[in-house]
Amino acid sequence: MNALLVKGLLTLVSVAATMRGTTVLGFSGATLVMDQDIPSRTCKYSRAYSMIQVRCANLGLEWIPSNLKTEIQIMDASVNRVRVLTNDSLAAYTNLAYLYLGDNFIQEIQEGAFDNLRYLKVIDLSTNGCDTLPKSLFHLPYLQKVYLAKNRLSDDLFKDVQVRSPLIFLQLSKNKLGKIPQLGPVPTLMHLNLSGNSISSVTPEDLAPYCSLKILDLSKNPIKFDASNCECETLNAWLSVRGIRARPVYNCTEEQERCTRQPEFSNKTMELYGRCSEILRLQVETEKARNTWILIACCISGFLFCLFVGLFCVHKRNKRRKKKLKEQQRLNANNANTELLNSNLNQPENT
Ligand SMILES: *[C@@H]1O[C@H](CO)[C@@H](O)[C@H](O)[C@H]1NC(C)=O
Ligand SMILES: *[C@@H]1O[C@H](CO)[C@@H](O)[C@H](O)[C@H]1NC(C)=O
Ligand SMILES: *[C@@H]1O[C@H](CO)[C@@H](O)[C@H](O)[C@H]1NC(C)=O
Ligand SMILES: *[C@@H]1O[C@H](CO)[C@@H](O)[C@H](O)[C@H]1NC(C)=O
Repeated sequence: MNALLVKGLLTLVSVAATMRGTTVLGFSGATLVMDQDIPSRTCKYSRAYSMIQVRCANLGLEWIPSNLKTEIQIMDASVNRVRVLTNDSLAAYTNLAYLYLGDNFIQEIQEGAFDNLRYLKVIDLSTNGCDTLPKSLFHLPYLQKVYLAKNRLSDDLFKDVQVRSPLIFLQLSKNKLGKIPQLGPVPTLMHLNLSGNSISSVTPEDLAPYCSLKILDLSKNPIKFDASNCECETLNAWLSVRGIRARPVYNCTEEQERCTRQPEFSNKTMELYGRCSEILRLQVETEKARNTWILIACCISGFLFCLFVGLFCVHKRNKRRKKKLKEQQRLNANNANTELLNSNLNQPENT
């Protein structure tokens, strides 16, 4: 009985070991030896969603390896011991679209660290020690998702930042923000997570520059409303009018008797919202115009193609006809010649 149990256990262990072996094999296409002395410190290449991925997670790295294939599009270097991102750390990896650097010790990021990453779409810097970021990060032309939870970012980060990236998702929970970040109009932003900060007030004016916002998390912030100004009701009215799903739900008990009239939004709020909507409208229009032009170009090139094929066919048919005609003529001429010859041959006999 005992022997059977032990045997079964052994089989289980060996099966688990083989399975682990195969998964590791499955992931590694080629492996790169980073440090000859420590064979376990290797980054592994693989393909994910038809992109080239390199996985260097959890290897105790103190800096971003500089000898990786430069065509990588996904880099996972999370759970390491990186402290600094210099201008050169990532400069060679110009095709990067997804960069995961969560759970490191990053405290310093030089101003030009991301400047070469023109195609960057997603960046994860969660659980690091950043108290600021290069302002140029928010200028990258394809950047959509930014994960910055659990850092030490303060309001200074967003001083004079003008977001030009098509930012959709911004995760800033568990930082040191004292107010809603002012990023200028960001018509693409849909998801903003600010939970676990030190934000003490929020008004429609703070949210108006984000005219596409759909999800807002403000939980675990010491937010207070000025009851004499009906701030709570006004905020709720804005969230409801704009269709923003917000956490937590403020139930405005203090204001319930006082604020019976319809909440009003300030002119500034409407102005900020209007500016954002205008940019959005222009973007949609530009996109539409572009699509129309693409359609027109497709139609014209299709028409030209058909015309060309038609002309080519006609040309070929004409050529064939001409050839046939020539052949016929030659044949006829030949016939005539032979006839002539025949008649010539026959002539002397007749005379
Ligand atoms: C990094 O790049 C930025 C901008 O490209 C530049 O201003 C800065 O001086 C550079 N820093 C170092 C240490 O090279
Ligand atoms: C916001 O972040 C916190 C902590 O990281 C998380 O628990 C919460 O679910 C997030 N909120 C939303 C709406 O995703
Ligand atoms: C509103 O607040 C009261 C206490 O102030 C609380 O008991 C109640 O659950 C809240 N309602 C909602 C819908 O959150
Ligand atoms: C707000 O705009 C309205 C008209 O659009 C104007 O009558 C009013 O004076 C403005 N209020 C302030 C405070 O500027």
